[in-house]
Amino acid sequence: MKIVKLSDKLSLSPIVQGFWRLENWNMTAKELTDYMNTCIERGVTTFDTAEIYSSTLCEKSMGEAFAEDKTIRDKIQLVSKTGIFQQEINGSTFGYYNTTYDRIIRSCKESLQRLKTDYLDLYLIHREDPCFDPWETARALKDLKREGMVKEVGVSNFDPFKFDALNKAMDGELVTNQIEWNPVCFEHFESGMMDYLALHKIHPMIWSPLAGGRLFTGGDEHCKKAMEKIREIAARHGEEPDTIIYSWLMYHPVGAIPLLGSNRLDRLELAIKALSVKLERYEWYEIYAASGQQVLR
Ligand SMILES: NC(=O)c1ccc[n+]([C@@H]2O[C@H](COP(=O)([O-])OP(=O)(O)OC[C@H]3O[C@@H](n4cnc5c(N)ncnc54)[C@H](OP(=O)(O)O)[C@@H]3O)[C@@H](O)[C@H]2O)c1
Repeated sequence: MKIVKLSDKLSLSPIVQGFWRLENWNMTAKELTDYMNTCIERGVTTFDTAEIYSSTLCEKSMGEAFAEDKTIRDKIQLVSKTGIFQQEINGSTFGYYNTTYDRIIRSCKESLQRLKTDYLDLYLIHREDPCFDPWETARALKDLKREGMVKEVGVSNFDPFKFDALNKAMDGELVTNQIEWNPVCFEHFESGMMDYLALHKIHPMIWSPLAGGRLFTGGDEHCKKAMEKIREIAARHGEEPDTIIYSWLMYHPVGAIPLLGSNRLDRLELAIKALSVKLERYEWYEIYAASGQQVLR
């Protein structure tokens, strides 16, 4: 399977396994290591998590799996995220953003402990922080890289202005922006982020490529309209709709890397299949316009 080069030090598999929903999967550590090994055997070697997923339990369960099968860690590229912070205030949990120097350093050390590893391949600032000092955040990320705790750094859910601010403070070292994109979500086309990334040859990682499953489970009018067209195109190619959606994402010249949200092997196979499906250019636009949110003038 081809790999996607983010920098001289880091390449990712073209499809990434996400672990956000891990706590719903109800897997034993053995079942989890088996699934991780299945992903690796199929070339899906990049695994995505975050400190905040299931209030740190996701990283903890993944760390237990890495301890159960010690061969896994060296075969994968491990991605985690920081910046969303929960605190007990007057007896209730308040979630907010914290991208200060001390918090990032501490957060990374705690993630490494939970994940039972010495380093992360890629560390992302999870969300835009409205109270953000790009110079301070950059200093923390640069120190983590210098100390070998992370190989590369990036962001998630950033608009072009915040991306540019942090990237300038980082001397251009950000290697990705992990963003939401699917046939009913076009936020980053509207913000100009897609053009920014294409111009700077930065590959985005794409979360909720299937709109969190809403495309298949009914969803709203946008989902229904999009799926009608996707099913028509899928029938034309003799493929499943899931495969067509992944190939639509990967058709774009920006070189997007979709993240899978399921732990079902059949769904993993449908995503991998997309690497060998080539849409016609007009089909890309059919899906782009199908939900009715984007207009071709
Ligand atoms: N950076 C961020 O802010 C951010 C935010 C959200 C997610 N993420 C990352 O992105 C990864 C993927 O996101 P996601 O989980 O939302 O991805 P997704 O693939 O859009 O959604 C996965 C969900 O869709 C369901 N699904 C998939 N195919 C289906 C089908 N054919 N019919 C019915 N349901 C179907 C899955 O159900 P089953 O489990 O039953 O297969 C699962 O519940 C996460 O694991 C996480 O790593 C990042």
